Amino acid sequence: VPPRDLEGVRVVVSAGGTREPLDPVRYLGNRSSGKQGYALARIAAQRGAEVTMVAAHTVALPPPAGVHEVHVSTARQLGEAVRSAAAGADVVVMAAAVADFRPATTAEAKIKKSDDTPDPTITLDRNPDILAGLVRDRRPGQVVVGFAAETGDASGSVLDHARAKLRRKGCDLLVVNAVGEGRAFETEDNAGWLLRADGAERPIPLGSKSQLAIAVWDAVAELRAR
Ligand code: PMT
Repeated sequence: VPPRDLEGVRVVVSAGGTREPLDPVRYLGNRSSGKQGYALARIAAQRGAEVTMVAAHTVALPPPAGVHEVHVSTARQLGEAVRSAAAGADVVVMAAAVADFRPATTAEAKIKKSDDTPDPTITLDRNPDILAGLVRDRRPGQVVVGFAAETGDASGSVLDHARAKLRRKGCDLLVVNAVGEGRAFETEDNAGWLLRADGAERPIPLGSKSQLAIAVWDAVAELRAR
C-alpha cells in the first residue's frame, strides 16, 4: 500500500517529448515515450496528491488514474500549460523532454524537393527554458524538480554535467539519467542519481520507472517536511 504522504499536495508533472513543426507533415522531435512522466503522475496520485499532468507526445499509455491531463505538442505550448498549472501548485516536476530549439519558420505547405533549387537548410531559434522560468517565478515554498538527460563526453562525466546543470537551473532537486545506448528514453527501466540543491547526492539503482518515481516522491516528501 503506497503511503498517503502527498495527501492534498498540488502537483504538476510534465511528460513526453515535444514536437517542433517544420511543415504540415514534418517535425523535429525526440525519443521520449512519456513512460517516466506518466509513472511520476500515477504514483503521486496514489500517494494522495492532486495531480495535473501536462503531456506532450508519448507512445500509447493508459491514462494514470485520478490525474487531470492536459495535452500539448510544442515546447512553447508545454511551457504555457505548465506555467499556468504551476501558479497554483506546491510541486512541479519537469520530466518532459523539451526541444531546446525549433525551426525558425514553419512552412505552410509541404516542403518539396526540386532539382532546380538548392536543398533547404533548417535554421533554428532557441525555445524558452521552461524550468529556469519556473525557478525564477516560483511561489514561496514551491518545490521545483528538474530532470537531466546526460551523456558523458570529453569535457566531463554524466555527473559533472548534471552538477553544473543543477547550479545553472537552480531547482531544488535534479534527477539525472545517463542516456544513450538504449537507456532511459523509450525503455521500461531507468536509473540515475538524485542531486539536491544542498549538495546531497544519492544513486537510484536500475529498476522500473515506477520505482524511480517512488524515489523522486520520497525525496520531494523529505524536502517538504524540512
Ligand atoms: O519519456 P521516457 O521514454 O520514459 O524517458 C524519460 C526521459 C529520459 C525523457 C526523462 O527521464 C528525462 O530525463 N527527461 C528530461 C529530458 C530532457 O529534456 O533533459 P534536458 O537535460 O534536455 O533538460 C533538463 C531539464 O530542463 C528537464 O527537466 C527539461 O524538462 C527542462 N527543459 C529543457 C529544455 C527547455 N527548453 N525547457 C525545459 O524546461
